[in-house]
Amino acid sequence: MSDLPIKLGLLGLGTVGGGTVNVLRRNADEIARRVGRPIEIKIASVRELSAPRICDCSEFELTDQPKQVVAHPDVDIVVELMGGEGLARELVLAAVHNGKHVVTANKALVALHGNEIFAAAQNAGVSVLFEAAVAGGINIIKSIREGMAGNQIELVAGIINGTGNFILTEMRDKGRTFEDVLAEAQALGYAEADPTFDVEGIDAAHKLTILASIAFGVPLEFDKVYTEGISELELVDVGYAGDLGYRIKHLGIARPVADELELRVHPTLIPEKRLIANVDGVMNAVLVRGDAVGNTLHYGAGAGAEPTASAVVADIVDLSRALAGNSAAPVPHLAFQADAIRARRVRTSEEFTSAYYLRIDVNDVPGVMSELTTIFADLGVSIVAITQKEPARGQHHVSVIFITQRTNEALISKAINQIEDMQDVLKSVTRLRVEHLDS
Ligand code: HSE
Repeated sequence: MSDLPIKLGLLGLGTVGGGTVNVLRRNADEIARRVGRPIEIKIASVRELSAPRICDCSEFELTDQPKQVVAHPDVDIVVELMGGEGLARELVLAAVHNGKHVVTANKALVALHGNEIFAAAQNAGVSVLFEAAVAGGINIIKSIREGMAGNQIELVAGIINGTGNFILTEMRDKGRTFEDVLAEAQALGYAEADPTFDVEGIDAAHKLTILASIAFGVPLEFDKVYTEGISELELVDVGYAGDLGYRIKHLGIARPVADELELRVHPTLIPEKRLIANVDGVMNAVLVRGDAVGNTLHYGAGAGAEPTASAVVADIVDLSRALAGNSAAPVPHLAFQADAIRARRVRTSEEFTSAYYLRIDVNDVPGVMSELTTIFADLGVSIVAITQKEPARGQHHVSVIFITQRTNEALISKAINQIEDMQDVLKSVTRLRVEHLDS
C-alpha cells in the first residue's frame, strides 16, 4: 500500500454525483485496500455553488467552472456525472485531450458520441469507462465484455429503464395513475431530467445502443434503434395480458439475425413464469444468451444515487488499480491487494441468525401442539406461521410445520433438542433456514 492518493475531478454533484461522494467517503478504507492507494476528490464542479446537496463537500474544492476540473493539473481521473450531451461531450473530449482518464454514467453521451470519444481516447492513450451508463448498479457491461468474452451473443433482452418499470409495476399492482407514479419516480431521483426520455423509451434506447455494441462489436448507432414508449399503454391491456398469463414489461431487445441485427425498445408481453417477468419496481434485469453459457440473467437496482454510484466507483477503482502501477495484475487475484488481505473470524452455525422452517412429525394426540408452543414460548422464539394437515385416513401421525421469526440458531437447536425428547415426537425434526432476501 502507498499513501499517495489517486486524485479525482468530478463534473456534477446531483443525485449520482452526491451518491458517488458519499460512497467514496463511507468506504474509503475498503476501497484503498482494493486499489493499493487512497482515492481523493480534488475538485468538483456544480451548476450553482449555493444549491443544497446530498453530500458533504467540505473536503474538496467546489467550482462552477467545469473547465477547471478537466484542466486541473493534479486530477488523474475526471468523473462526468452532469448528464446531457452537449457540454458533457465538450468536457469529456477536453479531459481526454488533457491526458485524463474518464469515468462517466452518461448513457446519452456514450450512445450519441461514444464513437468519437473512444477514438479520441485511443489516440490520447487514456481510458473512458462507463459501467454506470447501463442498468445502474448491475455490472452488465463488465459481464458481457469480460465475463462472456468467449461466447457469441445470441440475445440481449432487458428491462433497462427503472422509471418505466416502476410506473408499470405501480399501475398494475396498485391501480395508480401514470402521472402520479411518474411524479414519485421524479421525487425519488430515478427519472431523467426530461422524463419523456424514460416514458418514450429514449433512455432505454441509449442503453440498448451501448449493449448492442458491446455484445456484437458494432459501432454505436442510436438512430437505428426502433423505439416505442409506455405512455400509450392502457391499463385494460395490462389486465387482459394478466388474464392470459402474461406480464407487460418495457423491454430493450438486441438480437443478431443472420448477418443483421434487430434493435428494439417497446412494451412486451412476457409469460409470467419467466424470472424477468417478475422484475418489479425500479429494478432492472438483463437477460443475455451466449452460445456457450446459455441464458444468464443479471438483476439489480437500475437507478438511484448509490446503486449508480456503485458502478461509477467500480470504474474509478479499475482505473486506479491500473494507475497504481500493477500492470501485470491490475485486478488483484482476490480483489484486494495482497498485503491488504485481513482474516476475519468466521461465525459458527450456532451463532447464525435466521428464520426457520421446522417440520415435526408427531402422534395425533391431545396436548402435543400446546407442548410444542410452550417450548418455543419458554425460549422466547416467536412463531409467524403454523400449519398442520388432517392425518391421512387410518393414520395417527401428522406433520406440524412451524415458521419462526428471525432468531438465533442456538435457540432453535435448543428447541429442537427439547422437541425431539417429547414422547409423541416420532423422528428427528427437519430444520430448514428461511431467508426472505428482501431489502
Ligand atoms: N432514468 C433512468 C432510469 C436512470 O429510470 O432507469 C438510470 O439510468
